[in-house]
Amino acid sequence: MVLMALTSRGRVVEENSDVMLYLDEKRKYMVKARRGSKLHTHRGYVDMDSVVGASYGSRVKSNVGVDFVVLQPTLWDYVLKVARRTQVIYPKDMALMVFRLGLTSGMRVVEAGTGSGALTCALAYFVKPGVVYSYEINPKFQEVARRNIERAGLMDYVVLKLKDITQGIDEEDVDAVVLDMAAPWLVVEHAYQALKGGGFFASFSPTINQVEKTVLALRRRGFVDVRVYELLLREIKVEEGAVRPFTLMIGHTGYVTFARKSL
Ligand SMILES: C[S@@+](CC[C@H](N)C(=O)[O-])C[C@H]1O[C@@H](n2cnc3c(N)ncnc32)[C@H](O)[C@@H]1O
Repeated sequence: MVLMALTSRGRVVEENSDVMLYLDEKRKYMVKARRGSKLHTHRGYVDMDSVVGASYGSRVKSNVGVDFVVLQPTLWDYVLKVARRTQVIYPKDMALMVFRLGLTSGMRVVEAGTGSGALTCALAYFVKPGVVYSYEINPKFQEVARRNIERAGLMDYVVLKLKDITQGIDEEDVDAVVLDMAAPWLVVEHAYQALKGGGFFASFSPTINQVEKTVLALRRRGFVDVRVYELLLREIKVEEGAVRPFTLMIGHTGYVTFARKSL
């Protein structure tokens, strides 16, 4: 049952939907709202019978009287909680991609590699009822990704392909080609062939050496508006009279390269 995931926006928790039970700033639990099941935590267990039918935003109590707030999971929660077999792209970098690519409903996007499917979920969420054609060379990763995408309720908008994208892209006239793989520069020519005029190339790379090779290949092929960004996201710790960034942060994820196809 994948219906009640990111595509459903009700006011109360429906049976078999995913729900986020929020305990405090450090702990929240994403669980299936199944009658007869329990969520066990160090603050007692929550009987899921009390969660099914509860209004979002309301509180349910564990068996020892501790409150949990009932929240509807968002795309952010799904991509952070996917089962991981590979590195995944963080929401901050996904957000930049989605906005810069202008992703919107009905678009057709090619992606590689699928990895754990975290980015696939984000792409599918924004293009639905369009489609994401996602290439992957490792069948084990592809299976993990399939389960993650199904859990998010987005599989209807994704075509998973077991294929090396450096050997070519089957689709034509796509709106964007989005890469998160070791050698994106090997895909520049295929991306050019697959994109519609003005279409976007985007690539996430952890090292600047990959970026250099990719940008040079893009320029050689005549792509325009070639830009590279790095995003740093700092969370702020707010205590009265002592507001400051947290000491620890994710210092590096990767660089995001964008370019557009010129005819
Ligand atoms: C870092 S992971 C991608 C993670 C993914 N973006 C996510 O958010 O879950 C890179 C993936 O690219 C795949 N890959 C590497 N080269 C590829 C190629 N030539 N064609 C298709 N997939 C490839 C790898 O097997 C790996 O699963």
